Amino acid sequence: MFHRDVDEQIRLQLAMPFHADQLFELTDRNRDFLRPWLGWIDATRGPDDSRTFLSIQLDRFGKGQALTTMIYFDGLLVGVAGYHSIDQANRVGCLGYWLDQGHTGNGIMTRVVQDLVNAGRECYSLGRIEIRCSTENERSRSVAQRLGFMHRGTCRHAEKVGDVWHDHDVYVHENV
Ligand SMILES: CC(C)(COP(=O)(O)OP(=O)(O)OC[C@H]1O[C@@H](n2cnc3c(N)ncnc32)[C@H](O)[C@@H]1OP(=O)(O)O)[C@@H](O)C(=O)NCCC(=O)NCCS
Repeated sequence: MFHRDVDEQIRLQLAMPFHADQLFELTDRNRDFLRPWLGWIDATRGPDDSRTFLSIQLDRFGKGQALTTMIYFDGLLVGVAGYHSIDQANRVGCLGYWLDQGHTGNGIMTRVVQDLVNAGRECYSLGRIEIRCSTENERSRSVAQRLGFMHRGTCRHAEKVGDVWHDHDVYVHENV
């Protein structure tokens, strides 16, 4: 089973369909927290929706197109992070992530994203690693800034979440 130990407390586990029930439970518990930023929340209505997502991601992992991991903190599932797209021809990876609200504020995601940057370089030889987040998502922008990602631009009306259009800040970690 693929996993990476980020440190003594944090383990990343390759996301698999059998995680569906616990992933849905975590998602359902964090709906109100995640809804402003993640457009797929309201379409995730039951464990089967989580299972479909996990099956698709596992298939894409097998093709080298994505890497989705479950974040465990002291053995407890607390979030999801990974490369939602990997372009091996151009050595570009795009990171996405979310945490259980009760586990924010402790540096968990900063440590996870640093490890995923390392994994992207080691396993996929990525040259350019991107984080795109709403210009209003201060906590997500802070993760990128804390890890030395450079702000390379803003995309207008990049994503519609619910009824709200968001501009995206593009942060890049380059090694080209
Ligand atoms: C984005 C998100 C993952 C950020 O979570 P977070 O808890 O702020 O990030 P971290 O886990 O890295 O924790 C950072 C906080 O812990 C603190 N911290 C404590 N120990 C730390 C350590 N060892 N290293 C880094 N930060 C540490 C930091 O000071 C920071 O607190 P502050 O914001 O009060 O200054 C979370 O807000 C979330 O899931 N949001 C909803 C979904 C979402 O927006 N996803 C991103 C879409 S682009």
